[in-house]
Amino acid sequence: MLNESHMLGLRHTSLEDIRLILDTAESMGEILTREIKKVPILRGRSVVTLFYEPSTRTRTSFETAAKVMSADVSSISAASSSIVKGESLRDTVLTLKSIGMSALIIRHSQSGAPEQASRVAGCPVINAGDGFNEHPTQGLLDMLTIRKHLGRIEGLKVAIVGDILHSRVARSNLWGLSHMGAEVRLVGPPTLIPPDIQCAGARVFRSLDEALEGVDVVNVLRIQKERQEAGLFPSLREYSRLYGINERRLRAAVPGCIVLHPGPMNRGVEIDPEVADGPRSVITEQVANGVAIRMALLYLLLGGRPTDALAA
Ligand code: NCD
Repeated sequence: MLNESHMLGLRHTSLEDIRLILDTAESMGEILTREIKKVPILRGRSVVTLFYEPSTRTRTSFETAAKVMSADVSSISAASSSIVKGESLRDTVLTLKSIGMSALIIRHSQSGAPEQASRVAGCPVINAGDGFNEHPTQGLLDMLTIRKHLGRIEGLKVAIVGDILHSRVARSNLWGLSHMGAEVRLVGPPTLIPPDIQCAGARVFRSLDEALEGVDVVNVLRIQKERQEAGLFPSLREYSRLYGINERRLRAAVPGCIVLHPGPMNRGVEIDPEVADGPRSVITEQVANGVAIRMALLYLLLGGRPTDALAA
């Protein structure tokens, strides 16, 4: 059981809970290697995904996680629901509650929307990304991927590169990794680094080469073209020249360094295809680990204990 009844962000998630989720996800990963990926753990439960923003991997992996555990899944997209008729978030959530749901997974462009939903949902709510605020399941799957490859998180040097300002992935990584005892370095164009971010205990770098010196992990962020106000950086070409991750730049990192990217990637902008498809890249594993993390969360929030899952 988790201490919290929702998963709204990693900022306020305890170290104990993070460890429990990662350990449970490792056990869940075993189910995903079976030929028949179906266990009855959530039979009779109904999981709703409510997405107000586009998504491929987050939505699919939540739905896959729920289906592997035999839950019923309903997916609602803003574009094809009463939301286009102007229904408020509160009313939408109350409607879903009346129909009967066991868990609500929500993505929204407004920071704080999942928290607001959690006050009326009457069931566990999971944040699948809210504005610039947090994307906790992405932070957790990144940590799981790091731990599986490098055996630990504590004491590692992790560089988060790029558009920190608009990135909920960066914030969830920052909180989660700091709780777990990693040294977090943030690097990107000064206009894309929020001025107050240092309060979170991370070191901010201007130069990519300095930030990559001796790092164990590089987490490359997508340039959020849809969230840019004009003029935050000169051009994509310039961005790529100064902050794009390529093999030459990675020579500053430790030899066994791994490269993560939450996707979707802008190949040739923030990451060179040679790196994205190269031996240090763990990007496709991140997606697979995402299913295990979401299974673990649904399971723990809906009341399970880690050992029941494997016996199922
Ligand atoms: C991220 C998101 O939507 O926050 N993508 C994801 O969930 N894998 C990152 C992004 O859009 O850049």
